[in-house]
Amino acid sequence: MKFKKNILCIGAGYVGGPSMAMIAYKCPDYRVTVVDINSARIDAWNSAELPVYEPGLNEIIKKTRSKNLFFAKDIENQIKENDIIFVSVNTPTKTFGDGAGKASDLQFLEKTARQILEHSQSPKIVIEKSTLPVKTALAMERILASAKGKITFDVLSNPEFMAEGTAMADLENPDRVLIGSRETESGLKARAQLVDIYARWVPVKKIITSNIWSSELSKLVANAFLAQRVSSINSISALCEKTDADISEVARAVGMDGRIGSKFLKAGIGFGGSCFKKDILNLVYLCSYYGLQEVADYWESVVKINEYQQDRFIANILGSMFNTLAGKKICVLGFSFKADTGDTRESPAIYITRKLLAEHAQVVISDPKALKNAAIDLASDKGKISYIEDPYSAASGCHALAILTDWELYRKLDFQKIYKSMVRPAFIFDGRNIIDHKKCFDIGFNVYPIGKPALSRFEGQSSF
Ligand code: NAD
Ligand code: UGA
Repeated sequence: MKFKKNILCIGAGYVGGPSMAMIAYKCPDYRVTVVDINSARIDAWNSAELPVYEPGLNEIIKKTRSKNLFFAKDIENQIKENDIIFVSVNTPTKTFGDGAGKASDLQFLEKTARQILEHSQSPKIVIEKSTLPVKTALAMERILASAKGKITFDVLSNPEFMAEGTAMADLENPDRVLIGSRETESGLKARAQLVDIYARWVPVKKIITSNIWSSELSKLVANAFLAQRVSSINSISALCEKTDADISEVARAVGMDGRIGSKFLKAGIGFGGSCFKKDILNLVYLCSYYGLQEVADYWESVVKINEYQQDRFIANILGSMFNTLAGKKICVLGFSFKADTGDTRESPAIYITRKLLAEHAQVVISDPKALKNAAIDLASDKGKISYIEDPYSAASGCHALAILTDWELYRKLDFQKIYKSMVRPAFIFDGRNIIDHKKCFDIGFNVYPIGKPALSRFEGQSSF
């Protein structure tokens, strides 16, 4: 079959795989190929067990794979054969040299640009899908402009706004698609080609265009605003715990103001995931780089509150359990950074588990999708942790439950049954405020939510 367009995506991760699967699904007359330097990842995309868990992804892969969606390893050849190239490689926080701990590590992106330059034999549209510091397209253009002969490249910015766990729904029905380009004749022509692809299923009014720098910056700012809301509500949860106010009631009252809105106001143990922290720190770095120290400090405080919230949670466990966890068995319910994903990158559960181990607690971790990743994250603590998928077996014989992920299944657990199998006094620390606290208290648990009065049989703090 002859395809109308040939699209390539370099980077077959959480973004590259699902976003290209959606393009292939919506555009059966386009051929979409996804490549990666990690050949095990490509094998997994071609197998029955996909490397990424996302509700709805399996079904779409089944409908498209080997028809108009292909996962391949021959990167160089694919660059030659495709005219539209998405770049969706990872852009982690730099761990070395200048800007370490804040700036983006752009080595994977630059390597990709050089590969595109080396293997292109015809004009290409190169699309930044990775999240990047503002002005990265300039570096990309400069590398590509060194092409010999007459090959031309147009660089576009098309940041991805999908969230994990809801990726397929977000990709199918996005709030908006953002496309930034140079405002030159060829830049606008390239932009129009990309608009055409999305217009196959996204209403045109939701496809917004801008200059390339605004597009790059908007992605960082969107993540910073979302994370800021989480830190804002978490900061207030600390005040609620001191004043007997209830964070859910406060969030409801505040969120009903149409100007504020109700989303992203759930207090918890802090945000995790591969992007919020990295993108805010990148914003902080950029502001400092441009001499805007006050702006940098403002955004850095969002990350500081996030760390504070996790420390508060640990301190609460320790204080409530008579200031010693040594030898006590704690069941961690949920290890992924949010529900409906197996992803554990920057999950607060990693930090919290390490802190529990530092107090010499015995930790049992339960999660429906993330146990494999949890064991990798905590490989250096091998032998000190048990991994048990079934929450009832995991909780049995434990002194406390710590709910760290908002998996739906935890709402529906039979806490009466769990209570019977635990050591008394039994504690629940609900780091996501997802269970019925009163019911659990009536069963016999001492219950510690976030930002709400504790339901405890022990008045005040005590220690030996
Ligand atoms: P990921 O680590 O899951 O995937 C990136 C992939 O790129 C890896 O498989 C890696 O092997 C591959 N890669 C790196 N260098 C390569 C090269 N030179 N050639 C071929 N493949 C190469 O990362 P991700 O979560 O998919 O994120 C990718 C980008 O998208 C990041 O910039 C991230 O900030 C952004 N983003 C992520 C999400 C998300 O939900 N995960 C959402 C929006 C935006
Ligand atoms: C986030 C953004 O929502 C996406 O738009 C963006 O594309 C993506 O980052 C990215 O650039 O990687 P994601 O990290 O997958 O998506 O998940 P979110 O739903 O944003 O949750 C992030 C963290 O905040 C999770 O740990 C979640 O539990 C926490 N959170 C979220 C709260 O604690 N409270 C809330 O009210 C909302």
